[in-house]
Amino acid sequence: MPRPGGSAASSPLVGGSEEPTLMEMSVAGRRSWSLPPLDVPEVDLALPEQAESALPLPEVSEHDLVMHYTRLSHRNFSVDLGAYPLGSCTMKYNPKICDWAAEYPGFRDLHPATPESSSQGALAVLVEAERFLCEITGMDRATFQPPAGASGELTGLLIMRAYHEDKGEHRTKILIPDAAHGTNPASVTLGGYETVEVPSNSRGMVDVDALRALLDDQVAGLMITNPNTLGLFEADIIEVADAVHEAGGLVYYDGANLNAIMGIAKPGMMGFDIVHSNLHKTFATPHGGGGPGAGPVAVHDHLVAFLPGPLPEVGPDGVFRWVMPEKSIGRVHGKHGNFGVVLRALTYMKALGGDGLRRVSEMAVLNARYLEELIRGPYDLPYEAPCMHEFVASAKTLKRDTGTRAMDIVKALMDEGFHAPTVYFPLIVEEALMIEPTETQSLQTMDALAEALLAIAATAGTDPDALHAAPVRTPVGRPDEASAARHLRVSWRDDDD
Ligand SMILES: Cc1ncc(COP(=O)(O)O)c(C=O)c1O
Repeated sequence: MPRPGGSAASSPLVGGSEEPTLMEMSVAGRRSWSLPPLDVPEVDLALPEQAESALPLPEVSEHDLVMHYTRLSHRNFSVDLGAYPLGSCTMKYNPKICDWAAEYPGFRDLHPATPESSSQGALAVLVEAERFLCEITGMDRATFQPPAGASGELTGLLIMRAYHEDKGEHRTKILIPDAAHGTNPASVTLGGYETVEVPSNSRGMVDVDALRALLDDQVAGLMITNPNTLGLFEADIIEVADAVHEAGGLVYYDGANLNAIMGIAKPGMMGFDIVHSNLHKTFATPHGGGGPGAGPVAVHDHLVAFLPGPLPEVGPDGVFRWVMPEKSIGRVHGKHGNFGVVLRALTYMKALGGDGLRRVSEMAVLNARYLEELIRGPYDLPYEAPCMHEFVASAKTLKRDTGTRAMDIVKALMDEGFHAPTVYFPLIVEEALMIEPTETQSLQTMDALAEALLAIAATAGTDPDALHAAPVRTPVGRPDEASAARHLRVSWRDDDD
């Protein structure tokens, strides 16, 4: 029986066969187009000599072209092909109804600079999406301008700066847990602050005493995600938020993991002042490869005046308009953010309703906890607390006993038709495997994934070399990752060897 998770093993391209490039397929005179005979006077465009000389372009038929790109697309792994348990990235299934809504011509073809009088429908979408998002997060107002989580983080930090400066304070430091996602310290640096790392305790959560010791009048705020990047709910979050507030700082919620608590807990009630949500990870939009996404930032009333603007609002006359907040930090996006992503998110929210959204989170957590239990034993599970929507396992013992590393395990998993989990993150876990199954994977897929992971652990004991060589059944084997990153070749040149 084919594995529910997999496609690679059954792909016609399995085995590493090299696809010819379009240039290699080229045959002189072959065309993928035909034009009717000229029935208007010919014009001499007086092109420069270089443009007249034959350019080295591929000459292929339309069918060749379609086959080429379709074959290439089949070599990619995607959420629509199999289980994609890439922890932290939340590669969840995106219901097709969301794309259907985003394809609606009245929205799709609307230019972002259309005056408000001609874009009332789009403004209504933004206002409604903001209302839903504020309800889910427990906040008061939100901007949809930030086009990704990381830019939400930067926006939040700029709001913090504006807030403190408005009070006549110039604070210089932001606290971040040692398990934080890489974008957190990067945003802090970009926002002109210094990162101060807060250690985690043995439970994998913020060490409250260590946090207190770091607080002073230079701390502008704390940036933290909950559940954290170990997949654990920060049980002391209220105490943590209170401590930061007592020192005059603000508390920022990195909402990349909001998909674990939707409809169950609200960051706005945990003491957070600023909350970003990754719409592309929580409410469905295909993402990966850098975008497109949406990282709306929501705040409590005391920070609304600083939000990026303009913000969409509806007046007492029922007319929608753009309004600039009084002390706005200005724009953080050329126009109004990635509207198509917001529209998909609103469609997702409305299609599922409040109960449905809660169920999404419950299923995401259930799947992660189920899988974690199935692989306990051969894989180390460094923290005791039950996981939320993702968990971090470790291949520390397997490495010690058999020389098999986390990288070998995930490459072998690709041979079984699953996407690799995230590896070597968070940095505080040795040989980390960060696994996020997501809510739509079935019981059968969870069982198949566990079975594959257990079989790999068994192979580590009997034939570790087989795992060092994996993957052997994917279109591309194990590349030299350093060279692939440093000497990336993405274009064809006729002098390529
Ligand atoms: C915990 C956490 N924070 C922030 C981000 C950044 O979000 P984005 O990729 O949308 O910039 C991610 C992305 O995976 C994340 O997992």
